[in-house]
Amino acid sequence: EDLAANGPVQRLTLFTGVPVCLITGYAETRELLAHPDVVRSPLEGPHRDTVLDDLIARTEQHMLGANPPDHTRLRKLVTAAFTRRRIDAMEPRIREIATDLLDQLSATTQPVDLVDAYSYPLPITVICELIGIPAIRRDDFRRWSSVIVNAAAHPADEYVEATTLMLDCVHDLIVDKQQSPSDDLLSGLIQARDGGDRLSEDELTSMVFLLLAAGHETTVSLITNGVHALLRHPEQLELLKAEPERLPAAVEELLRYDGPLQAAIPYVTQAPIDIAGQRIAAGEVIVFALLPANRDIRKVERPDELDITRDDATHLAFGHGIHHCLGAPLARLEGRIALELLFDRFPNLHLADPTQDPPRTPSLLMNAIRELPVHL
Ligand code: HEM
Repeated sequence: EDLAANGPVQRLTLFTGVPVCLITGYAETRELLAHPDVVRSPLEGPHRDTVLDDLIARTEQHMLGANPPDHTRLRKLVTAAFTRRRIDAMEPRIREIATDLLDQLSATTQPVDLVDAYSYPLPITVICELIGIPAIRRDDFRRWSSVIVNAAAHPADEYVEATTLMLDCVHDLIVDKQQSPSDDLLSGLIQARDGGDRLSEDELTSMVFLLLAAGHETTVSLITNGVHALLRHPEQLELLKAEPERLPAAVEELLRYDGPLQAAIPYVTQAPIDIAGQRIAAGEVIVFALLPANRDIRKVERPDELDITRDDATHLAFGHGIHHCLGAPLARLEGRIALELLFDRFPNLHLADPTQDPPRTPSLLMNAIRELPVHL
C-alpha cells in the first residue's frame, strides 16, 4: 500500500545497492510486460563466481531468462509437451496425493503446521510425478530443490552440492527416458520436435530445474496464503462452502489478494520508454511489484477487501506477456483441489493463534507464509 501511494512508476535503490525502476500500477505493468523493449537481463545466480559458472550455465538455459528469438523457440518446444491435456489428466492423481496428506494430518497432534504437512508436500509430489522422477528419488529432489530455490539462505558449498547432485541425477534420468520413454513430461520434452529442432540435453536439464523452482514454492504459497486469507475472512469461507461452484473465482481472488510473488524477476529496458508521464531510460532495471499492482485502486474496487464474488478479480499474479506463467493451469488446478479437499475434510479448521500474523519469509521475490499453525 505504501509503495502504491508513491505512484505507478517509482525510482528506488534496493538494499543490495542496485537502483531500479519500480512499477506498481496494474495498467503500467501490463503495458510494459508486453513491450518489445522490456527484456530479460541476464539472470544473476545467487553465488555467481568462476567455480559456479559451469553449474549455472547448465541449469539456467531455460526460457524464463531468455529473450526472443531463443525464448520463442524454447517456449514452443516446451509447450508441445506441457499440454493442457497432460495437466488435466493429473487431476485424479492430485486428488489422491492431497487425500493421502489429509489422512496423515488427521493422525497428527495439534496444532499442526499446515505448510509443512500439506501445502509444501503436495506441489512437490505433483511436479516430481509429472516430470517422471521415480518415487525413490523424490525425497532427494525435494531436499535439493529447497536448497537451490532458497540459495541465498544456504552457504555456497551446500548450493554447489545440491546442484551437482541434482544435475547428475537429472542426467541419469534423461538417459533413462531416452532409452525407455514413458508418458511423463520429461519423456514428452525429450520427444518434442519443431521441424528438425529439439531441446538439447542442457536445455532439458535446465527445464527440469525451472519446473522445480518456478512451480513449487509458488504453488505452496497459493495454498497457504489462500487458506490463511479464507480463515481470516470466515464470511467468505462460509460463502464458498455454501456455493462450491465459486471455487475457481475464489482461487483467482486469492491470487489477486495475497499472491505468491512480490515481484517478477527483473527486466531491463533496451530503449527509452515513456509511461505514466515519466521517461524510463535505456538500460534501467525494471522491477514489477505484482502485489501492489493487483491492488491498484484504478483497476479494482475496494482493492484491500477479499471478495470471492467480485467480477473484476483479474490479476497479474502469473505475470503477463511472453513470459506469462506456463504452469498457471496446473497451479490453478492444484489450488482448487487443495482448498476443496482441505475444507471438506476439516470444516472446523481454524488458526491456532488468530491474534498473530503468521511469519513470512524475508524475500524480495516471494510472498510466502513460513508456517501456519492450525487446529483441525
Ligand atoms: C513464469 C507465477 C506456478 C512454471 C511465471 C511468471 C510468474 C509466475 C509471475 C513470470 C515471471 C516473469 O515474468 O518474470 C507463478 C505463480 C504460480 C506458478 C504465482 C503458482 C500459483 C507454476 C507452476 C509451473 C510454473 C506450477 C510449472 C510446473 C513456470 C514457467 C515460467 C513461469 C516454466 C516461465 C515462462 C516463460 O519464461 O515463458 N510464473 N507460477 N509456474 N512459470 Fe509460473
